[in-house]
Amino acid sequence: MSDFEIRTLRTDEHRAASDLFRDTVHVRPATDAEWERSGLAYQPGGAIGAFDPELVGTARFFDAELTVPGGARVPMAGVTGVGVRADRTRRGVLRALMAAQLEEFAARGVVCANLLASEAAIYGRFGYGLATRNRTYRVDRSRARLRADAPVGGEIELLDADRAWELLPGVYDRIGHRPGMMSRPEVLWRLYEAQCRRRSVPMKAVVHHGPDGPDGFATYFVEGLEAHPWTKDLEVPDLFAATPAAFAGLWRFLLGVDLVDRIVAEERPLDEPIELLLADHRLLSDDRIGDEHWVRLVDVPKALAAREYGAAEPVAVEVTDPLLPANSGTYRISPDGAERTGEPAALRLDVTTLAMLYLGTWKASALAGVGRIEVRDPAAPAAADVLFGTRSVPWSGSHF
Ligand SMILES: CC(C)(COP(=O)(O)OP(=O)(O)OC[C@H]1O[C@@H](n2cnc3c(N)ncnc32)[C@H](O)[C@@H]1OP(=O)(O)O)[C@@H](O)C(=O)NCCC(=O)NCCS
Repeated sequence: MSDFEIRTLRTDEHRAASDLFRDTVHVRPATDAEWERSGLAYQPGGAIGAFDPELVGTARFFDAELTVPGGARVPMAGVTGVGVRADRTRRGVLRALMAAQLEEFAARGVVCANLLASEAAIYGRFGYGLATRNRTYRVDRSRARLRADAPVGGEIELLDADRAWELLPGVYDRIGHRPGMMSRPEVLWRLYEAQCRRRSVPMKAVVHHGPDGPDGFATYFVEGLEAHPWTKDLEVPDLFAATPAAFAGLWRFLLGVDLVDRIVAEERPLDEPIELLLADHRLLSDDRIGDEHWVRLVDVPKALAAREYGAAEPVAVEVTDPLLPANSGTYRISPDGAERTGEPAALRLDVTTLAMLYLGTWKASALAGVGRIEVRDPAAPAAADVLFGTRSVPWSGSHF
């Protein structure tokens, strides 16, 4: 451990933590008016600071729930606002902050912690594994149309920003969650609101009303490109639909918004069937496949017991976790569940790699193929592929 003092910040210290964090990501401090909103995104008791002797590093979390394969929801901490003052980096401040957070999460019964990483090389050493990915794509709006047989039904309602912030949390809660999705607590909605209100163009939102009430929504911004202000992009940060009709209805609406050249759908699930909905799928182009949530299994026995498994022969998996050694041990994974076992391990892996398997994004055989899983029984990777496999591709859809 280091000599830094790490402690929970008081509410009246949150703004200093915010200023410090924003400086580490090269963003100016919040103005008084902005802080009135963005301060609401700090969960009381959720921010910690490293003092040496003044504040030199910070991290924060909010409590939420993560949906795991099979539909169970487990207590999750959303980690964000991580930064170390530029003149104090590479002296172990982040390591001390991470250790303190994990200790606190474990003591409180948090099952997993999720974050979005600024750089891919940082968090693996603390047990965070890349557990969901996403895709950003563009659609040529002026030419794209839905296929004539695309699902229909339901009505679209356009909301202004004030009404949206009031209504969307309730609509989000009604939508079924795929593995990797999370509850959105009040502090997260306040973070989104603060971020949206800082933009120079207004946020707009639409809700899709199906036969049983609101069953989908999208938020969007229309902005001219700096170099070509007459070319307008419609960016979609959020789009959730509970039914095929809601998904098609939201896209039908977006494709019909006037004075827009391109729709940029940001950080979407990898298996979203958008190409299948368009009359000409070549009017869609992929921008990138990106990292989404990095997951840290804080309580491995509870996490493994919470999810469902596919139908395959049981596999004994040995997990090592130097930071939280209570997680280390061998677990028998079978279609009936997961429990500790004394039997010899067929696969050996660290807790970071287990997090990559956990939601179903990566296959055990692929991880074994690149040396991230040690194979003791050659039949085990194929069985683990089926056990950890999921019906839909895991995706969170919540950025923080
Ligand atoms: C990333 C950041 C928090 C690291 O803080 P730090 O106090 O320098 O980290 P530590 O000294 O505790 O380093 C711990 C380990 O991580 C490694 N590490 C830290 N930052 C790294 C980076 N950006 N890339 C690769 N490795 C990194 C260190 O080399 C060290 O490695 P070790 O385990 O082999 O000793 C800090 O550089 C920062 O604030 N960056 C800008 C803001 C940012 O990106 N925040 C993260 C938002 S998700």
